[in-house]
Amino acid sequence: MYDAGKIIGGLIIFLILITFPIWYNASSGQADNMPDPKIITDAKMCVEDAAYMKTNHMNLLNEWRDLVVRDGQRYFDAPDGNRYEMSLSNTCMNCHSNKSDFCDQCHHYLGVAPYCWDCHIEPKE
Ligand code: HEC
Ligand code: HEC
Ligand code: HEC
Repeated sequence: MYDAGKIIGGLIIFLILITFPIWYNASSGQADNMPDPKIITDAKMCVEDAAYMKTNHMNLLNEWRDLVVRDGQRYFDAPDGNRYEMSLSNTCMNCHSNKSDFCDQCHHYLGVAPYCWDCHIEPKE
């Protein structure tokens, strides 16, 4: 008679081995796990061009905060001619309401956790 236990045990080991590349990639933070921020808005442009935003949005947010809180200015004239309220929740998160699939995609990957949401309202997704 065949030993059912050994056959099943062998099958399980075989399955683990042939699927190894799949679960190894999924758990090891390699290529498959790169941040993939999804931009879902009808707008064509951000408040500045995308390359600038990618590297400088944190500085822009600081500038906006200082202009609002220290200088009482409320509006920002974008290069494309649009005028925006300088507001994290009302402006950025109005277009980028998918915070978890956008902002958090990059921040989690980088291990950054901006503390802004202690006070500023997160969008309801
Ligand atoms: C009017 C809608 C709108 C507003 C308001 C807006 N964005 Fe954007 N944002 C976009 C669009 C559209 C893009 C993509 C532009 C492109 O690809 O040319 C973008 C791109 C970006 C990027 C670059 C993402 C990448 O992967 O390259 C960042 C970061 C960003 N926005 C953050 C912000 C922040 C922070 C604010 C507030 C200061 C903000 N956005 C306000 C629409 C907006
Ligand atoms: C394309 C990737 C990317 C996207 C999308 C993105 N960020 Fe960032 N964010 C970064 C990087 C990179 C840093 C800088 C991390 C560092 O300095 O260590 C950063 C830093 C920040 C900081 C400063 C945090 C700190 O503790 O200094 C804030 C605030 C911030 N992002 C807000 C946002 C908001 C709000 C959104 C969504 C509207 C967003 N970011 C989307 C990549 C991204
Ligand atoms: C301790 C609470 C607190 C934290 C944390 C905080 N803020 Fe603020 N922020 C405020 C208050 C209060 C105002 C003034 C609101 C007003 O005058 O409209 C403000 C205003 C702002 C404004 C301009 C007005 C607006 O509605 O957005 C920006 C932009 C801003 N903060 C960005 C940030 C960013 C980016 C972070 C995280 C890096 C952050 N803040 C963290 C309390 C906070």
